[in-house]
Amino acid sequence: MRLSDEDKRMRDGGDGDAVAAAMDLLIRYGDALEAEYLVDTRNVAGTMTQPSPAKAALVAEGGWAHAYAVMNLDCDRDIEIPAMRVPTCQLQHGFAADAEGLTAYPADSIRLQEDAESYFTERGVRVLGTCTPYQVGNIPVRDEHCAWMESSAVVYANSVLGARTNCEGAASTGAASLTGRIPYWGNHVPENRYATHLVRADVDIDGFREWGMFGYYVGETVQEARPAVTGRLAPPSDADLKHFGAATATAGGVELYHLPGVTPESPTLDAAFGGRARPEPIRYGTAERATVYDALNAQGESTDVDFVLLGCPHASLAQVSEIAGMLEGARLADGTQLWVMLPRALAETSLRAGWTRTITRAGGRVLTDSCPAMSRAAPPGTRVFATDSAKQAHYLPAILGIEAWFGTTRECVDAALTGRWRGTLA
Ligand code: F3S
Repeated sequence: MRLSDEDKRMRDGGDGDAVAAAMDLLIRYGDALEAEYLVDTRNVAGTMTQPSPAKAALVAEGGWAHAYAVMNLDCDRDIEIPAMRVPTCQLQHGFAADAEGLTAYPADSIRLQEDAESYFTERGVRVLGTCTPYQVGNIPVRDEHCAWMESSAVVYANSVLGARTNCEGAASTGAASLTGRIPYWGNHVPENRYATHLVRADVDIDGFREWGMFGYYVGETVQEARPAVTGRLAPPSDADLKHFGAATATAGGVELYHLPGVTPESPTLDAAFGGRARPEPIRYGTAERATVYDALNAQGESTDVDFVLLGCPHASLAQVSEIAGMLEGARLADGTQLWVMLPRALAETSLRAGWTRTITRAGGRVLTDSCPAMSRAAPPGTRVFATDSAKQAHYLPAILGIEAWFGTTRECVDAALTGRWRGTLA
């Protein structure tokens, strides 16, 4: 890989041991990827504060510097961790103190995370605590080179904002935050961003559930390729786009899709393919839609629902407002719990708007920072849960060994109010 003078200076210890370790990691990483060079980034979204048993053991062994060196820099030497060189945010992590006692989530993990927050904020990390940094102030501009983790955020950044990022890991983001560099390969390279597949919806894609189901089909069909989508698509809301992208990344490994008119570099379908011949469209029709619905509901057996989860990816203000509207003056069924997940920075607005009060008066909870899949925690005793998120319906049954129902937001709220699943594929 071609290194700039500045890269070499950092590699040779010009900015200290931690930066040298970070540059060494990036050089090994870039060489393995056959990247030509490293590119500047001023936008890193990674994970430093997420607690885990492995991290707790490393902190006990040698403190946070040691844990960061091992987990984020792949380095086993004792080094000091300086301030982050470029703007760096912490994505979702574990539940915080305001969720203590609510779940089986260990208090030790909450304390460890508090400790991590104080260590890393001193070094400039912005703790956004959400899988949707683009909802709370981290909005990269078109063509901006980023180093982001979190598949649902990566696909949104590439496809909706037109930024350029691969789906990075804890080590590469850890190294990028100390150097402001990331290998130039994959989604950073314009020629690698054109669509490879065309998927046409022959049924109406209109509303949150339909965008999620369509995304699930697209992801399962193209896997890690780059789809362009067309057909009977109603104008999507930002929540629809969040859900669609997260579902493509869940069922497959899509990091970039082209939705002409929405994806900045694809004002037209022709532009999505870079003017090249388009492939034959893959069709998403009534039968395919029914197959996706059945797959997302394959883990549901008992219609007695004891937990409803909304807000994956973390909810927008419009979604929280909609949920609160559905719960106005209502009361959850005995024995059924409802959690609404949103970014902490939006929780204040929800509080001021009265939505949090409406949700909690009904018996629900508004939670931030994490989610059941991330923290591996649901209300104690949960056997059957319902969600409007294709991603949670896909992952949570395997993570927690519980049954799952997938449907519209309204069907989920109905399940919370009645304790029964009555969803159908209308
Ligand atoms: Fe976010 Fe958790 Fe879903 S981190 S994307 S709410 S699985």
